[in-house]
Amino acid sequence: VKDACIIGAGASGLTAAKALLDQGLSFDWFELGSGIGGNWRYGSWDRGQYGRSPAYASLHVDTSKERMAFADLPVPEGWPTYLHHSELLRYLEVYAERFRLLPHCTFRSEVTRVVPDAGDWLVTVRSRDDGSARTTRYRAVVVASGHHWKPIEPSWVGEFTGIRMHSSAYRTPDVFEGRRVLVVGIGNSGADIASEAVSHAASVSLSTRRGAHIIPRYILGRATDQWTGPGASRLPLPLQRAPYRVLLWLSRGRQRGSGVPVPPNRLLEEHPTVSQELLPLVRAGQIVVRPDVARLDGDRVVFVDGRSELVDLLVTATGYEICFPFLDRAVLEVRDNEVGLFRRVVHPEAPGLYFVGLIQPLGAIMPLAEAQAAWVARLVRGAPPPPREVMRASIERDRVALESRYVESRRHTIQVDYWPYLNEMRAAIREADHALGVAS
Ligand SMILES: Cc1cc2nc3c(=O)[nH]c(=O)nc-3n(C[C@H](O)[C@H](O)[C@H](O)COP(=O)(O)OP(=O)(O)OC[C@H]3O[C@@H](n4cnc5c(N)ncnc54)[C@H](O)[C@@H]3O)c2cc1C
Ligand SMILES: NC(=O)c1ccc[n+]([C@@H]2O[C@H](COP(=O)([O-])OP(=O)(O)OC[C@H]3O[C@@H](n4cnc5c(N)ncnc54)[C@H](OP(=O)(O)O)[C@@H]3O)[C@@H](O)[C@H]2O)c1
Repeated sequence: VKDACIIGAGASGLTAAKALLDQGLSFDWFELGSGIGGNWRYGSWDRGQYGRSPAYASLHVDTSKERMAFADLPVPEGWPTYLHHSELLRYLEVYAERFRLLPHCTFRSEVTRVVPDAGDWLVTVRSRDDGSARTTRYRAVVVASGHHWKPIEPSWVGEFTGIRMHSSAYRTPDVFEGRRVLVVGIGNSGADIASEAVSHAASVSLSTRRGAHIIPRYILGRATDQWTGPGASRLPLPLQRAPYRVLLWLSRGRQRGSGVPVPPNRLLEEHPTVSQELLPLVRAGQIVVRPDVARLDGDRVVFVDGRSELVDLLVTATGYEICFPFLDRAVLEVRDNEVGLFRRVVHPEAPGLYFVGLIQPLGAIMPLAEAQAAWVARLVRGAPPPPREVMRASIERDRVALESRYVESRRHTIQVDYWPYLNEMRAAIREADHALGVAS
């Protein structure tokens, strides 16, 4: 029986494979598509039922290369601060080559079922080439299958006769040409897509049910996420917020009065919408901001303020559902994107089932996934997680903390703060090393 099975070869699966190798563990590793990179493999047509990577042609990440890189491999000198998706994929390819990961991965292989059995896990994998399936026993399973692939589609009253697409299906701006475009949702997808539509569409509107704090990519010439550090993140939120607010004011002016509603919750209490372009375009009247959609009426969309608009193309940039089709609900129930995991990694009721990358940081995911993977590898090696009651209590504390800090939304169920979470993971790794040292 091998030690583990890894599901997925996106950024999280890659760093999980490296961590298991570092700990001398045996594993199999399966990826649905034909190559590594997950979200960052632009236009990949071969992700089967999950559709393609949601990246669009112009996508640049919104976290700086310094914050996004794995600790084990800095982004090469001379690469831009905010990488294009093709550069990020290249970086992941270099990572895979450097640590000789590729020979361990079996591509075009979909994990279809993961079932607990007598203290181990039975994993069924189907080949996408010949449809054959086989089931293998592992001591542990590391789920790194991503959480940005299954679109959330709002259901509104009425029929829409124009073209409708989710942001995950958007690729190139030719689709906007000459059309009246309405984008729903003011997350990063909505902000990027509405801004890009402006140079092509006949008109662009953006519907939001409560607004968002719009954060520029740069503050006084420096990448925004580099204004924070491990020290500042230890301060209480109001003390972190005050200087941040001043910096934002200096770099982008006041949002109030710009046309983009300021949400009722404060800065650092929602996932940030990072956009250099959105506020200027709204101020210039090139994007009209609308409230929530009330209903659809043929070629019109009616908003909750009673106004309506003729729309040719409706883009729902309404986010993603967390979903693990290979796991039975009796093993893990995900309700409204809530997943009850200890430190966002360990299933307290299912020993040996671990998750990497199932977080939504205020900041970049990859270095946090790298730290999670290093911890998971130690758990697979035999470092014990805390007793079940301790894990359950911690999960409940996390849930209450999120509920009291963030506005209620399916996008804020797996939120973490970059530095505190990284520190928590590093402490967990130290604890696990200590336990392994004591045991051996
Ligand atoms: C448009 C967009 C922009 C983003 N920008 C940023 C950013 O700027 N900064 C940032 O930190 N994060 C960003 N993210 C978040 C992004 O999801 C992460 O950066 C990162 O790609 C997550 O990697 P992952 O490996 O966890 O998931 P994925 O990249 O989704 O990879 C999961 C892999 O698992 C495979 N898989 C899934 N199910 C199975 C199965 N059953 N069997 C076998 N294989 C399977 C998939 O094919 C895929 O290759 C963005 C997300 C989106 C959608
Ligand atoms: N350039 C980049 O790096 C980039 C670009 C795109 C995406 N991303 C990342 O990709 C991830 C997904 O981003 P996303 O923007 O696609 O999704 P998201 O962050 O989940 O945002 C979804 C948006 O849609 C709204 N919404 C959801 N359901 C709705 C409904 N029924 N009616 C009206 N509005 C609704 C949400 O409003 P509420 O807040 O009210 O729920 C929110 O404004 C994030 O991690 C993001 O940072 C990054």
